[in-house]
Amino acid sequence: MNYQVVIPAAGSGKRMGAGQNKLFLSLSGTPIIMRTLLVFEQDSWCKGIILVIKETEREWFEQQIHKHHLTKVLSLISGGKERQHSVYNGLLQATSDIVLIHDGARPLIGQEAIHRVVLQAYEKGAAVLAVPVKDSVKKVNQTRITETVERESLWAMQTPQAFRLPLILKAHEIGAKSDKPATDDAELVEWLGEAVFIVESSYTNIKMTTAEDLVIGERLLLWEEEKRGS
Ligand code: C5P
Repeated sequence: MNYQVVIPAAGSGKRMGAGQNKLFLSLSGTPIIMRTLLVFEQDSWCKGIILVIKETEREWFEQQIHKHHLTKVLSLISGGKERQHSVYNGLLQATSDIVLIHDGARPLIGQEAIHRVVLQAYEKGAAVLAVPVKDSVKKVNQTRITETVERESLWAMQTPQAFRLPLILKAHEIGAKSDKPATDDAELVEWLGEAVFIVESSYTNIKMTTAEDLVIGERLLLWEEEKRGS
């Protein structure tokens, strides 16, 4: 089995309020994005990383790639205004049958989950990691609840999302022509009327979005270490 992965890292992370690209922030001593990249560097199925960055940050990335001895980063591609544009730019460089798209902001992804989503994409064409929603979910107008959504059928989507390359390229080509942004890459495939399958993931695969995610992330890293030690 093998795949290439497109990693969008060209955002600014305003919700983190760090005043810089949130992916540069340290998670237990290592920048978030380097933790993400190291997971793929160390996965034998990963045949190449296409990293999507802001041109103004190229030097930082080049230095870090050198410092961490990364050998699988095939190219540093310029990102776009929205995540969707950044991913599309990266996908145009991909050459493998199966391509993964993984947010740079999810450093706690594990190899076992990556392999399960890759296998499902080989079989079905499009697969995404997801977890069942834990909270009650309701629609709200201003502050008034208007509807309770049945939780049994609700799943929260994560990355990696894995696809056959021609399918995801076609989906992004059509997405690029639409005025409406998609919430994730799977939605673009859904627009084509193609089936996307979920692969159950772990609640630990969190996205570093706001400041408290860093605190949770550091604790989760310790927990993983404890589990490995026991
Ligand atoms: O902001 P959020 O965490 O949802 O972004 C998800 C990922 O997409 C991040 O890794 C971010 O760097 C990336 N991104 C990008 N280009 C943009 C916006 C976000 O590569 N224009």
